[in-house]
Amino acid sequence: MTHLKRILITGGAGFIGSHTVRSFVRKYPQYKIINLDALTYAGNLANLRDVEDAENYQFIHGDIKDEDRIKEIFENYGITDVIHLAAESHVDRSITDPLAFLKTNILGTVNLLQAARSFWKEDLKRHLFYHVSTDEVYGSLGEEGLFKEDTSYDPKSPYSASKASSDHFVRAYANTYGLSIKISNCSNNYGPYQFPEKLIPLVINNIQQGQSLPIYGDGTNIRDWLYVEDHVSAIDVIFHRGNVGETYNVGGNQELQNIELVYLLCDIMDEVLGQLAGTARKLITYVEDRPGHDKRYAIDSSKLEKELNWKPSLLAPEGIRRTVLWYLDNAQWLEGVTTGAYRQYYKQQYQG
Ligand code: NAD
Ligand code: DAU
Repeated sequence: MTHLKRILITGGAGFIGSHTVRSFVRKYPQYKIINLDALTYAGNLANLRDVEDAENYQFIHGDIKDEDRIKEIFENYGITDVIHLAAESHVDRSITDPLAFLKTNILGTVNLLQAARSFWKEDLKRHLFYHVSTDEVYGSLGEEGLFKEDTSYDPKSPYSASKASSDHFVRAYANTYGLSIKISNCSNNYGPYQFPEKLIPLVINNIQQGQSLPIYGDGTNIRDWLYVEDHVSAIDVIFHRGNVGETYNVGGNQELQNIELVYLLCDIMDEVLGQLAGTARKLITYVEDRPGHDKRYAIDSSKLEKELNWKPSLLAPEGIRRTVLWYLDNAQWLEGVTTGAYRQYYKQQYQG
């Protein structure tokens, strides 16, 4: 079959990437989906078991830092479009090892831009480079206000600085070389297949293990939570109908203090595990704050809602419950990702 588009999705074995790959493979048999992933600690082919045999799907084990390999992939597969998600994504790891974030998030992105620019040079307008980014590029909010698309960049962690830089490079390639680009900046995602270094799956896993629940600082930092499939539906509408050259903010309009979120998780876990109310909350332990911890993120996604008629479909208590049930039903997946390397990371991060 000749495919209408041959889309390179980078980071497709990770959390958001795997949901994006699954959705595109199933929904668009007319497209070939080429998933390029280095399978770092965060990448896991078990996230994609249900689509790995699809006719319109191809996995490639490779690194976006490898310039020659990227060029080869564009040529061999005749890539028509890119949806770029591959990244080092965890703020705490960026504090320990900033250089890894610079290399993957900045150099890796520039490698992809170079390959796209050179491979598509005959007709740049027919192709699209879609860059998936984060609300953290805007920095930290006080009690009031929301991040809008024209909020000034003010990244404050090595992770967000590397993502901000990659956004700037994507825009620079549009401005300088005429590459067709789109960027979306999304708030905190949650849902199935999220690696348990991030707050929600970490708390679910620790409650199951009867381990303490580490809350950084006083627990009043605020995040705007979005169910991962709603992020994917936003990526889909932006990819297909968003205006070229534009940025879209994506958010759940679901602001919660970390401690409120952890209480909610504890109460749902007590209920579904048949434990006495209040059992899980006893595991909460306040620990030293994350250095430079951003206080509040909150997204104004009205541009996306008005222009492209997108809205989140699943709100927090319901989405959190669905997520908890998924982790309990998929104990094998969780066991598979919490072996030696994870335990070592955990010890280093939380027990000094
Ligand atoms: P993740 O850490 O779960 O997955 C990242 C994936 O990228 C993994 O499969 C990993 O193997 C792969 N990868 C890492 N380095 C690579 C390299 N050098 N070459 C090829 N592949 C590589 O991340 P995620 O949470 O799914 O985030 C995906 C993207 O979305 C990132 O760009 C992130 O900045 C962005 N984002 C995430 C969130 C969130 O809440 N998780 C919110 C907004 C934006
Ligand atoms: O806003 C989007 C960003 O959300 C994405 O770009 C990042 O890739 C993603 O990791 C996420 O970043 P956060 O730092 O907000 O997510 P994390 O799950 O690490 O932490 C959420 C909040 O919980 C944050 O305020 C720190 C706090 N926290 C986190 C952990 C892991 C704790 O209190 N204890 C913890 O053990």
